[in-house]
Amino acid sequence: MNTPVLNSWKDKALFTPGPLTTSRTVKQAMLTDLGSRDSMFINLIKDVRQRLVKLAGVEEEQYTAILVQGSGTYGLESVVSSALPPQGCLLVLINGHYGERMAALSQKYGIKTISMTFSEDEPIDPQKVDLLLAEEPSITHVSVVHCETTTGIINPIAELGDVVRRHHITYIVDAMSSFGAYPLNMAQCGIDYLITSSNKCIEGVPGFSIVLARKETLINSRDNARTVVLDLYDQWQGLEKNGQFRFTPPTHAIIAFYQALLELEQEGGVEARAERYRQNHAVTLAAMSHMGFKAYLRPEYQGYSITSFYYPEHPNFNFQSFYERLSQKGFVIYPGKLTHSDCFRIGHIGRIELSDVNGLMSAIQQTLDEMQINLPPCISD
Ligand SMILES: Cc1ncc(COP(=O)(O)O)c(C=O)c1O
Repeated sequence: MNTPVLNSWKDKALFTPGPLTTSRTVKQAMLTDLGSRDSMFINLIKDVRQRLVKLAGVEEEQYTAILVQGSGTYGLESVVSSALPPQGCLLVLINGHYGERMAALSQKYGIKTISMTFSEDEPIDPQKVDLLLAEEPSITHVSVVHCETTTGIINPIAELGDVVRRHHITYIVDAMSSFGAYPLNMAQCGIDYLITSSNKCIEGVPGFSIVLARKETLINSRDNARTVVLDLYDQWQGLEKNGQFRFTPPTHAIIAFYQALLELEQEGGVEARAERYRQNHAVTLAAMSHMGFKAYLRPEYQGYSITSFYYPEHPNFNFQSFYERLSQKGFVIYPGKLTHSDCFRIGHIGRIELSDVNGLMSAIQQTLDEMQINLPPCISD
């Protein structure tokens, strides 16, 4: 086995849903050791939490940001295992892998769970949800994924919020691969819990998840936690009481995240970041279509965080070989996760500029030539 030698590594550009490429300055910010009880660190956490609430378009009087150690799924599990009362019932809206994961999390805790499954290539339909909520009065909570990273589809969280609000139900949104890149107002969308991670569109490094919560809902769920580590209310109380985490915090990841938040601001905020990702997506789609790759989703459903492409129908195409050849050229793409179609994915988020996108597109053309794959351009329907 080849043992990796750290200082001989060269960063590859990551066109994935995460971990993502981060700026040099975000990485450099981690060259600092801070004690978890140091006032500098405590102030940093406070500042980060305040900025997150602002990014969600809401005020600290009604909303709060809770950092939870671990990857994004820890945040999701923290919400599910802490929010639902023993007699609660979670309706999980599913049109991809991450919706399925939410249902699996809930079932693991023995929580009554109803899955409402839609096709992977269509957004969740608020009218159908409305009908089901009217038929099933036992439902207390609803969850949906904003950008279903399985395909890159965008679900209509504001319209769903209107429906959920009418039924007086708690609304949970997995905004893992959208928060920070899609303008959002939690209050207007009626969201009670929104979950994202340090290493998605805010472009920090992996290490913790973020739960933005409506305080009133959080307080009402005070006694519901089913674990100690993922007790969301206790985690919040810890942060509120003395500004500290209950257990060892990912100090370096939080310092990097602070730098990432400053860089989001310097870039021009969510709108400017959205514009960069939108351009990354548009250039990718045009070049991929020209090279003969067909996108999985119809354009009107496609978000700008990540795009799924069908495997081309050519006898020489082999995804593993395609992937390895691109990786050797310095570009990392991502396999697909679809149930019924063979696809791979190209991400547009992270510290990726147009020059990186153009570099990837040239590498893909070169790789197709190496594999002797010649495809006619794909004209979209
Ligand atoms: C929509 C969505 N939900 C949940 C997750 C899980 O996050 P993690 O892998 O950080 O646990 C991801 C990861 O990409 C995601 O895109």
